[in-house]
Amino acid sequence: MWQVLIPSPRASTDAGGKMRRSLIVTSTVDAPRQSTSPARALVCRGCGAEFPLAAQHACYECFGPLEVAYDPAALAAVTREQIEAGPQNIWRYAALLPTGQDPATRVTLDPGLTPLVSAAALAAEVGLRAPLWVKDDSANPTHSFKDRVVSVALTAARELGFTRFACASTGNLANSVAAHAARAGVPSIVFIPGDLEQGKVITTAVYGGELVAIDGSYDDVNRLCGELVETDEFEDTAFVNVNVRPFYAEGSKTLGYEVAEQLGWRIPAQVVVPMASGELLTKIDKAFSELVEIGLVEAPEGGWTVFGAQSAGCNPIATALHNGTDQIIPVKPTGIAKSLNIGDPAAGSYAIEAVTRTGGWMDYADDDEIRDAIQLLARTTGVFAETAGGVTVAVLKKLVASGKLDPDKETVVYNTGEGLKTLDAVAGQVGPTHRIKPSLRGARDAGLLG
Ligand SMILES: Cc1ncc(COP(=O)(O)O)c(C=O)c1O
Ligand SMILES: [Zn+2]
Repeated sequence: MWQVLIPSPRASTDAGGKMRRSLIVTSTVDAPRQSTSPARALVCRGCGAEFPLAAQHACYECFGPLEVAYDPAALAAVTREQIEAGPQNIWRYAALLPTGQDPATRVTLDPGLTPLVSAAALAAEVGLRAPLWVKDDSANPTHSFKDRVVSVALTAARELGFTRFACASTGNLANSVAAHAARAGVPSIVFIPGDLEQGKVITTAVYGGELVAIDGSYDDVNRLCGELVETDEFEDTAFVNVNVRPFYAEGSKTLGYEVAEQLGWRIPAQVVVPMASGELLTKIDKAFSELVEIGLVEAPEGGWTVFGAQSAGCNPIATALHNGTDQIIPVKPTGIAKSLNIGDPAAGSYAIEAVTRTGGWMDYADDDEIRDAIQLLARTTGVFAETAGGVTVAVLKKLVASGKLDPDKETVVYNTGEGLKTLDAVAGQVGPTHRIKPSLRGARDAGLLG
């Protein structure tokens, strides 16, 4: 039996997993058939307390965020051959995920197996001597890595009996939830800050669900969703990054598994990951740890090192690390990297833990550096990234220049989103190199014929 844990109306819950008052159990639903799921429980990242697999995201004991814990024997039984025989998408890793083992239960656009692009020219430009790869997750169905987390979250949500899908979003999550809901024929309601890029708004609205733009920042949107989820009217609504957040977060592990598999079952020595809540970074690290623990992959010599990237307009995680603390001081985000603009990042301290433990570092890039990096990535690899990708490539460059990232170690940089959604970022910088009359004379006058 899976329990549905519904918060008391008076409890106040942060969407990122911080709960301020207690939750109460008010109803249960029949357990979905999860006999082959390796997931064992939800475990508190703060105090280690365990809870049943349910729509719960915060610990009753310490209010810390919960994450999915697995049966080690079930994970250890997974083989490379089993994965390689699976579908050409994230579900090839179903045996390592909390849900979706039975294809018939999946709520999904079948994301994943996105290109791992060899980036020798980019490596040369930034001063890396070892191989450099760009994991290009803009190739997902709604053009960001969010399709991975949404597929896992909504598969769990439907099994838990939820009948409407929702999220608090900086843009990409909105696209993905709306599209998944449309595919599944389930109603959706998506909440976004009112000042999002047009490319993110239209690519959400087109799917036909409810789209609520809020006069406020993402952190305001997130807070409101934390309150809405506790109302009777939203009792049947799964907010992917609130009440089913532990399942949602697990979807990001596939970005770790996939890179290892695409490298021929090797973990890269260094990875550079963009951070908003910081969750993605912690889950890539978790994926690498699992692969080693269950014997699918050997750890690289000296282990792997995780680096985090933020924008200068929203850098609370990197700032805390630079100040030698894991206490995040929330900021009011500014700047063009809107998809990363979470001022109060729920997994920030866990991202600092992963980066510190693996000997990595974090840095941040300002808007001009982001614009330059979008163009640098585009002209050296053919990958057109959204602003988050610009942040990551700009930070890669800084980390090499500052000596924090070893130029002689193989490195993977994650591009998590699509440039066509944030055209304004570079619209003022690029355009036609020539404008000519439609004649040979016009071409000659412009110097195109020598
Ligand atoms: C394109 C893109 N990259 C990275 C992230 C960061 O993800 P996380 O919140 O897990 O740190 C986001 C979050 O919205 C995003 O939209
Ligand atoms: Zn706890």
